[in-house]
Amino acid sequence: MTATHHPQQPDPVAFALEAAVRAPSPHNTQPWRFELGRDRIDVVLDSGRVLAVADPDAREARLSCGAAILNIQLALRAAGRASTVRLLPERARPELMGTIMLRTVCTPTPEDRALARAVQVRRSNRRPFTDRPVPLWVRHALLHSAAVEGAELSLLERPADVDELAALLRHAENLQQADPAFQAELRKWTCGDGDRDDGVPAGVGGPRPAPGSLLTPREYPGQASRPERPYEREPLVAVLGSFTDTPLAQLRTGQAMQRVLLTGTTAGVSASFLSQPVEIAHTRIALRRLLGDRAHPQVVLRLGYGFAAPPTPRRRPESVTRHRSVTEGAAR
Ligand SMILES: Cc1cc2nc3c(=O)[nH]c(=O)nc-3n(C[C@H](O)[C@H](O)[C@H](O)COP(=O)(O)O)c2cc1C
Repeated sequence: MTATHHPQQPDPVAFALEAAVRAPSPHNTQPWRFELGRDRIDVVLDSGRVLAVADPDAREARLSCGAAILNIQLALRAAGRASTVRLLPERARPELMGTIMLRTVCTPTPEDRALARAVQVRRSNRRPFTDRPVPLWVRHALLHSAAVEGAELSLLERPADVDELAALLRHAENLQQADPAFQAELRKWTCGDGDRDDGVPAGVGGPRPAPGSLLTPREYPGQASRPERPYEREPLVAVLGSFTDTPLAQLRTGQAMQRVLLTGTTAGVSASFLSQPVEIAHTRIALRRLLGDRAHPQVVLRLGYGFAAPPTPRRRPESVTRHRSVTEGAAR
């Protein structure tokens, strides 16, 4: 069904694409393209933007596309359009991550609106958080938001588990720092402030952790001269896992990751990623063991209350979107 679009309201598809490009991605690679058909948005993995060293199986790129798909669904709902999603809809076209079909008009709930607003303001916050603990009701909301999308969020509540995670993180960070190919890739995706529309600008990194800080953030090139500051004493670390490790499960977990991040944003909770231990095979296995062998770890997050973090740039939706011709549309 085609809903009429009133000219004074924002075009739902344009609004959805603006939201899609706000999704997080490793090193801000933005590994997506969009194809538009009649009442339809296709999300396509851009294999030229997959990190060959850090992400050789495109697992993190699929997480990012899953996040972009959730942003599209939320923005459409907030703009008053229901949608349905098929993930990996064409076996012959594995780079097609998902097709979102616009359906009837709908009335957004307050939660739809709040999550869609959070898409615009969510940012990775790599700076130290305060020592204010994340309250139980927020922890429950985060666990629930992962479960809604079919993933499992584990909050590391026991100090011994956080210590073990911290040791894996340090080990993985050291391995990546000693790997020239990893470092070359990281340099390629680290940019000066404001000179590119992708990559991680130098200004978004946090200070270097003072001795005694538990967690090891990723060290981006050019950070060695930054001042040292203590990070939170009792960090809240969460691991998002999936029950299988297939491309489909990774896309679903990307949707869950984004719902967790946005739910946190609506509650004033900031997050940063600590992906080093899931990017190296043996530390990923050790992390899985730490979680009781239940789920495949996909994302490690540090959560807490922070001060404003700067935004990262994005490519404009129109530079990553193409309209499919009528004949292409008919062929599908
Ligand atoms: C799967 C995935 C892994 C990431 N891993 C890290 C990481 O290990 N360290 C880090 O500082 N940021 C990491 N990020 C955050 C990205 O660098 C960030 O999303 C990107 O620069 C865009 O910035 P934004 O999140 O503020 O919009 C990761 C993001 C994703 C989606």
